Amino acid sequence: MTANSSALFPRNFKKSFPIAVRGEGSWIISSDGQKYLDASGQAAVVNIGHGVKEVSEAMAVQASQIAFAHTTQFHSASAEKLAARLLALAPPNFANGRVYFTSGGSEATETAIKLARQFHLESGSPEKFRVVSRRQSYHGSTLGALSVSGNVARRAPYQPLLAEWGHIAPCFCYHCPFGKTFPSCNVACADELESLLSNIEAASVSAFIFEPVVGATLGAAAPPDGYVQRITEICRKHGILLIADEIMTGMGRTGKPFAVQRWNVEPDLILVGKGVASGYAPLGAVLISSRVADVFAKGSGSFQHGFTYQAHPVSTAAGNAVLDYLEEHQLFGRVPLIANELRAGLASLPLHPNVGEIRGLGLLLGIEFIKNKTAREPFPRDESIAEKIRQACLARGVLTYPAQGCVDGVLGDHLLLAPPFTVSTEEVAIISSAIHHSVAQVFSS
Ligand SMILES: Cc1ncc(COP(=O)(O)O)c(C=O)c1O
Repeated sequence: MTANSSALFPRNFKKSFPIAVRGEGSWIISSDGQKYLDASGQAAVVNIGHGVKEVSEAMAVQASQIAFAHTTQFHSASAEKLAARLLALAPPNFANGRVYFTSGGSEATETAIKLARQFHLESGSPEKFRVVSRRQSYHGSTLGALSVSGNVARRAPYQPLLAEWGHIAPCFCYHCPFGKTFPSCNVACADELESLLSNIEAASVSAFIFEPVVGATLGAAAPPDGYVQRITEICRKHGILLIADEIMTGMGRTGKPFAVQRWNVEPDLILVGKGVASGYAPLGAVLISSRVADVFAKGSGSFQHGFTYQAHPVSTAAGNAVLDYLEEHQLFGRVPLIANELRAGLASLPLHPNVGEIRGLGLLLGIEFIKNKTAREPFPRDESIAEKIRQACLARGVLTYPAQGCVDGVLGDHLLLAPPFTVSTEEVAIISSAIHHSVAQVFSS
């Protein structure tokens, strides 16, 4: 459909958007019959693939029984069941925790910011309200979530509306903000949190929020060993909550239910979204550890917060059906195996002089493009390299997720890959071939 014939307020008035009419596994089919291979799971959302009948059937059953009941008056069996299942997948400190369901990721971040605030009020620390985060991060588009985000482009137009609670350096080894190298750096980027918390304003900090693997902003930058453990120790030492934003990395995308489980740490809150219902319904959640939930239960008993559609029965029915599918097909275990195949298909790509590195964990991979390999120098922004590669992949029928700004918020081009966990060996071959050819085409022109 052309931009002029649409009644929708689009993401971009200068683009036209095909109408998606069907999804089958890793493929999306548009109204003109074109087939697209979804190598990015849209935006790291579609974990179990498109068009899974079991999920739509479970949603239909729930909708026909009871589609909605307000959470001030009722709980639903589907929300109760999914909450218990998510807690069972989480680290041990969530064993007697609780789950607060939302309609998406940004609402989960907002909920966590307010939970952290009220937790400290209930604990007798009314001075604590600031949520510290990292530069070069993304936690959502609502004003609280954008305040804790460090994504320069997404924040820029709204800067006057955003709270300033403090950001520390990202953990990004390929472009280390300190010019250091792991392991001799001693994860200096984590020590920035310690320095911030040692200054005069530290008493007002309630929590630290981070993406275990920085998705859209840094193109799947994973921390080195020791970083997440060190951050956890600092949060404990200073009595602030640790919030792991697993909206992109959670629900198996990195090969574990939650990425933090790779480092055996126990955050106080874990945020999920995207993959939790695999795109079948709008759903997000805050997993609340027992320590935090107990403070509310033994304190005022009520959290001053709420959304009409929280814990929606049909969305949580979708979440349960997605989890059934993940378990029945053992898809958490499949992620590292098929990710290895994708890595193998792309293995020779960094030999190209304009491919800096391929990074990430599990099926969350980033490919960074650079002008000069030795200096790790990015391309000028107006060359739109990531967008050109996306278009070249699209011409080959493969959907990817491009972004700019990974180096400093403005410069730096990368492509994110996050295919469904069900992606086949043949589809992986199509994806890697499209990327190899697109890279060759864009840099030879
Ligand atoms: C890490 C992270 N947090 C939060 C969000 C916001 O989620 P949503 O777009 O569902 O509001 C995103 C979305 O891309 C994300 O990647």
